[in-house]
Amino acid sequence: MSGHGPLQPAVSRASGPLRGEAAVPGDKSVSHRALILGALAVGRTEVSGLLEGEDVLGTGRAMRAFGAKVERLGPGDWRVEGVGVGGFMEPEDVIDCGNAGTGVRLIMGAAATTDLSATFTGDASLRRRPMGRVLTPLAQFGATHAGRRGGKLPLTLTGAQSPLPVSYLLPMASAQVKSAVLLAGLNAPGETSVIEPEATRDHTERMLRGFGAEVSVEARPEGGKIIRLQGRPELRPQKVAVPRDPSSAAFPLCAALIVPGSEVLCPRVGINPTRAGLFLTLQEMGADLVFENETVEGGEPAADLRARFSGNLKGIEIPPERAPSMIDEYPILAVVAAFATGETVMRGVKELRAKESDRIAAMEAGLRACGVTTESDEDTLIVHGRGAGDVEGGGFVICHLDHRIAMSHLVLGLAARRPVTIDDFGAVGTSFPGFAPIMAALGAQIALA
Ligand code: S3P
Repeated sequence: MSGHGPLQPAVSRASGPLRGEAAVPGDKSVSHRALILGALAVGRTEVSGLLEGEDVLGTGRAMRAFGAKVERLGPGDWRVEGVGVGGFMEPEDVIDCGNAGTGVRLIMGAAATTDLSATFTGDASLRRRPMGRVLTPLAQFGATHAGRRGGKLPLTLTGAQSPLPVSYLLPMASAQVKSAVLLAGLNAPGETSVIEPEATRDHTERMLRGFGAEVSVEARPEGGKIIRLQGRPELRPQKVAVPRDPSSAAFPLCAALIVPGSEVLCPRVGINPTRAGLFLTLQEMGADLVFENETVEGGEPAADLRARFSGNLKGIEIPPERAPSMIDEYPILAVVAAFATGETVMRGVKELRAKESDRIAAMEAGLRACGVTTESDEDTLIVHGRGAGDVEGGGFVICHLDHRIAMSHLVLGLAARRPVTIDDFGAVGTSFPGFAPIMAALGAQIALA
């Protein structure tokens, strides 16, 4: 939906110790892909553990608008009757992807090589975000678009009538752009390839293979990968078990690391190496964070993650090449860094400026309002840690419709001296419905203000 109702302020206050299990919802990235590939397969795909957040529900509605049958059978259990590669119908109305960059960019890719026109929009945050990064490669397939200047939503995309396969070198580390190209390549004859200089999350490649597409991945001697897809496969419907979202688990786990006396377990969380950079970083900072019972869930590695407060986190420098594997986790890492001793230096993070908000600016404003010193340039964020128990808090934080900015500052308030207020809790539902009750069950004091 392109915007929600009145702002809903919320406040978090010193809590703890936090104790117990936090069963976080399904992975957002995997959930979007399960619905889209289900819609492009011939026959009935069954998804369990689907994230029922606003972003993914929007993708489900979009798949219906393109002709797939999408039904909810029970909590997290969904059935998709796909229309096959090239089988999308022209939607009768505007496709509103709400807050979801992943949703709109992947769906535009999936639609770009079918003979139809579709108009896309989103909320105020999504309408500010760059779409040129997918429109450029989609034009090489033969798709055209008309819309606002600068490639901003709303825009109408007209799919190629006679699509050509494409070989595309990613100009930025973006799994969304890579995925849009691969999804467009499904309905182009011959081989479509994407060269990614830096490895980004690989859920699309894994799931395409699971649905029966021919996908090869080759490491490049100079780093990164070449992903090749043979066009026009018949995708076979699958049973997809969505792992729990490591990006959501990050919030209760990081809360446990900064609230004295805490111990929190997040069961069966996805730990795909292209997503697990935060956990490695926390361990390097000295966090007591362990992986238990490693297993595989829906083609993705998963584990139980246990975090315990230790009170001796140290600031570190995070190498820029790790950024793609933890890109959504810098906001909560910046909070943990405030409770560490010394500086935490995050380099190579300019992509944070193109997220649901400019996350470098939003985190700096929020942390400073809570008594934490920060520095930044276009591509860097530095947090001057104050050590465990020495963060003032008390700030009023503007979230800019960004769920991760909201949750990060609510976690900060649990370990700060004074309560932290955010301007709007509404955005949290885009990725983590159940955040409030799950945190409350651990002992966190978070309430609507
Ligand atoms: C995502 C890719 C990342 C990430 C987003 C989900 C995906 O975006 O930030 O939350 O599912 O492909 P970029 O592709 O813009 O890096």
